[in-house]
Amino acid sequence: MLKRTHTCGDLTLEHVGQTVVLNGWVDAWRDFGGLAFIDVRDRFGLTQVVFEPEAGAALQDAARELRSEYVIGIKGVVAARLPGKENPKLKTGAIEVRAVELEVFNASPTPPFEMQGAEPNEELRLKYRFLDLRRPAMQSIFILRHKMSQLMRNTLSGLGFLEVETPMLGRSTPEGARDFLVPSRVHSGHFYALPQSPQLYKQLLMVSGFDRYFQIARCFRDEDLRANRQPEFTQLDVEMSFVEFEDVLATMENLVVKIAKEFSGEELTLPLPRIEYHDAMERYGNDRPDLRYGVELIDVADIAAETDFKVFQIAKDNGYRIRGLCATGGGTKYTRKDLDGLTEYAGTFGAKGLVWIKVEEETLTGPTAKFFQGEVATKLRERFNAKAGDLILIVADTQAVTSQALTNLRTKLAAELKLYDPAAFHYSWVVKFPLLAWDAEENRYVAEHHPFTMPLPEDLHLLDSDPSKVRAQAYDLVINGEEAGGGTIRIHDSAIQAKVFGLLGLSPEEANEKFGFLLSALKNGAPPHGGIAFGVDRLVMLYSNLTNIRDCIAFPKTAKGTDLMTGAPGTVDGRQLRDLHVRVVE
Ligand code: AMO
Ligand code: AMP
Repeated sequence: MLKRTHTCGDLTLEHVGQTVVLNGWVDAWRDFGGLAFIDVRDRFGLTQVVFEPEAGAALQDAARELRSEYVIGIKGVVAARLPGKENPKLKTGAIEVRAVELEVFNASPTPPFEMQGAEPNEELRLKYRFLDLRRPAMQSIFILRHKMSQLMRNTLSGLGFLEVETPMLGRSTPEGARDFLVPSRVHSGHFYALPQSPQLYKQLLMVSGFDRYFQIARCFRDEDLRANRQPEFTQLDVEMSFVEFEDVLATMENLVVKIAKEFSGEELTLPLPRIEYHDAMERYGNDRPDLRYGVELIDVADIAAETDFKVFQIAKDNGYRIRGLCATGGGTKYTRKDLDGLTEYAGTFGAKGLVWIKVEEETLTGPTAKFFQGEVATKLRERFNAKAGDLILIVADTQAVTSQALTNLRTKLAAELKLYDPAAFHYSWVVKFPLLAWDAEENRYVAEHHPFTMPLPEDLHLLDSDPSKVRAQAYDLVINGEEAGGGTIRIHDSAIQAKVFGLLGLSPEEANEKFGFLLSALKNGAPPHGGIAFGVDRLVMLYSNLTNIRDCIAFPKTAKGTDLMTGAPGTVDGRQLRDLHVRVVE
């Protein structure tokens, strides 16, 4: 075999005159009668190879048989390219290799898509993922991903964290998303569950005295998939002992600083900004606001009350909220048709309509502008600090609908009106989440984060009197409107933990059955502890400027949870099912 002496990204003018061997794939081939050229590509780069008549007819003929994606070895002599033929975009763009020997390791049919250039159709990409991942655009994402996990490991090791592995086969826990289950062969009718996160194990490791733990952990959640969600994803999972809220945030900020520096070249100033959950919901309608731009949600119920607009009067009678936002330049940009589109868009989040008002130099215009005259118009302008050319949008509805409709309009308008630099990053902690959320369907409280979260000390007394008001010692790291990580200080007192299980509707017997080991551990010398988990895929997505999480997972699932390449999930034969004591109900 012609074994490489250099990669396809190595050779420069320094190597001129040397005889080298390259291994790789044929990226492109051009035949100019007398001269045949190919580009040979590997993960490290691309090198131009030329087959000259001097190399002999046999070699030239062999070169003419080469096609895209053939796997080859090339021996040749490095030469400077002819003046004017250099390619400054390539690291190897100053040279070419004059071939003297060629070995074809493997042929290839014409690939279903090109390795360079425009992004191929996604279905094809997923079906031929092994080829898709050969594309340099994809390889650079996985190089970044590798650097990300290296940086995480090195930073946390440097801070005294120990990497410990926790089981993939565990026990199903009722909270959170649906579990992926694995039937037990030995114990008929019993199931393992794949971990939704290593949450309980890492807490137990703190009870065991490991003090500082981390793991780059695979997690499994059977939930509806979205652009930023996969059923199987990776967390940087962290837990610390003898810490309070501030300690976890300060320690993790060390890591965030390194990530920002490495992947966006930015020197962050600490501490990172914080926003309380309640403020985030009020000002942005969202617990993970994109703070690269303002466009805040503003309450205008008092101004609306001064108008004769019946929509506002009905809203007032229903106890609805009347909130709006002002988008810089939206009045100039959006046509009547666009605004009908925005109204329809707001409707998809439950808004029964959308008041839109274009702000002009002297007047307000729009179908409902007639209700905003004189002083009311002035008040509205001032409330939104609106300038000529801006667009005011108002929704009257419940807290939930106004939040949903306006926060989505906010995101859409900011992007369309280019109100921020898409290359910029904004980091913030969202803190003081509610501990519990009311689940109307199940008619009980569910944990906002998870059931092991400690309330804020000043809210502990509300656990008995008004649980819905209890705020948690919880924190999410939000980057550009994406939840990049989340964690909490844990309950280390078994009595408080038992009480929270009770609030979540678990009887003491159920709590013992499902979480007896945790309650027991908490009684056996559990230190105060807390931690966090970052979404590794999401971080890679953010720094690779991707819009879909699939692109940073080597072998991802489609939105329907399937793998188009292997065909998973697939059926299994009857014998396997019998072994597992499982029968399929059609
Ligand atoms: P949480 O459920 O918030 O917390 O998850 C932590 C982070 O993991 C990422 N993430 C996901 N990424 C891709 N696909 C998914 N389906 C998905 N789900 C979550 C997010 C999220 O912020 N045990 C707790 C952490 C703790 O309290 O320490 C936990 O799992 O970026
Ligand atoms: P209607 O009275 O339904 O014809 O609505 C008059 C205008 O008010 C239209 O522009 C609607 O889009 C808008 N509108 C109706 N309901 C609401 C609402 N709940 N919030 C905001 N605007 C609304």
